[in-house]
Amino acid sequence: IKTQVGIIGAGPSGMVLANWLKKYGIDAVIIELRSREYVEGRVRAGLVEQNTKDILKELGLDARMKKEGIVHDGVYLSFDEERIHIPFGELTGGRTITIYGQQEITKDLTDAWLDGGETLHFETKATKIIDFDTKSPKIHFEKDGEEGILECDFVAACDGFHGIGRKTLPKKSFQSYDITYPFSWLGILANVAPSTDELIYAYHENGFALHSLRSETVSRLYVQVDNDESVDNWSDDRIWSELSKRLANLGWELKEGPIFEKSITPMRSHMIDSLRSGRLLLAGDAAHIVPPTGGKGMNLAIADVKHMVDAFVAYYKTNSETLLDTYTNDALRRIWRAQDFSNFMTKLFHKQDAHGSFTYRLQKAKFDYLKVSRAYKTTIAENYVGLPFESFK
Ligand code: FAD
Ligand code: DHB
Repeated sequence: IKTQVGIIGAGPSGMVLANWLKKYGIDAVIIELRSREYVEGRVRAGLVEQNTKDILKELGLDARMKKEGIVHDGVYLSFDEERIHIPFGELTGGRTITIYGQQEITKDLTDAWLDGGETLHFETKATKIIDFDTKSPKIHFEKDGEEGILECDFVAACDGFHGIGRKTLPKKSFQSYDITYPFSWLGILANVAPSTDELIYAYHENGFALHSLRSETVSRLYVQVDNDESVDNWSDDRIWSELSKRLANLGWELKEGPIFEKSITPMRSHMIDSLRSGRLLLAGDAAHIVPPTGGKGMNLAIADVKHMVDAFVAYYKTNSETLLDTYTNDALRRIWRAQDFSNFMTKLFHKQDAHGSFTYRLQKAKFDYLKVSRAYKTTIAENYVGLPFESFK
């Protein structure tokens, strides 16, 4: 097979890229390891920041998100059972977030792509990327036990943390950075109306908790657990009891309901400082992982794609390679900002040391400052809703 841009991965970054290129008349073919059912059933992100909403609108693919997504104009932050509110619109000139599942975004983008008669090979494994230092790179793949080759002008590795894109980059071409946090998140989905109108992030002496949601009838909640924990140790009763302790606030009560999904996610920060080698370009989790506190991962993946689209459009429409050359640096400025914000939110709200320790006192000092400072609240608000692309120019 032959195309202009060969895309590995049908997650949010791969699907946004494909649909966006199509808008500019640039051909793409996507190769995805998993089945369509698996990709659309994978429960992950839910927080969609302003830039992502703007991009989906520009692509004309935001109809269902506008109908079913829930717009939030603020967030609650809680510390030792004291709760404050950060109003986004007021602090950021009207920017907001929307709660809409990542798998719903992926589904909308996949439907649009396939309905338009475009090519996406599910259950197809990219095994090798070669010749990306020439003008005709190739992706070797395996489907139903048979081998094939996708010839293209460029390879976009949107293949997540475990993909082959990063592993293919020449080792000497980048530096990598890693932090493994000494805690994980146990996340649940439950059939119960959310007990809050906006998200609550909470520090408690038992550890972090987050109350999010998916709809008027489905709640999404997370609790900090040790890295070696297993879901088997967490009965529904234990989860609800921990959540109501950690999210406690005077006059507020957590509603409980049947839990239908339970899983543990480790927390890490990971970075490489080059997203391109020749005609191989990386986007999203393939190049960086942020801890989930603050909901940046998917949004960052889609922000990378904006820079990648700009670079491909400049190449195909004006034969200019300038934006290909600046792709890494254009994307890295936002990535480092998101790395810092995600690390900051993680450290502010997770239990890292004994309750009452020096580390705890610093966390509490930050929270106490937040209560009184509009500037500090604005810092959180503008990072949380996502800084506009112009800010990084
Ligand atoms: P992925 O979604 O990982 O997609 C990569 C695709 O490539 C996959 O479909 C994979 O099957 C495919 N692939 C891999 N290898 C190959 C191969 N060899 N051949 C072919 N295909 C391959 N982010 C937010 O913005 N907001 C949130 O609220 C948020 N909450 C989160 C909560 C949890 C519990 C978790 C785990 C993550 C959360 N994230 C959040 C992060 C977000 O889910 C990821 O950052 C996002 O999925 C990255 O998208 P991506 O397209 O780069 O990679
Ligand atoms: C969700 C996940 C996050 O990591 C976050 O910071 C906020 C919301 C969610 O899954 O809804």
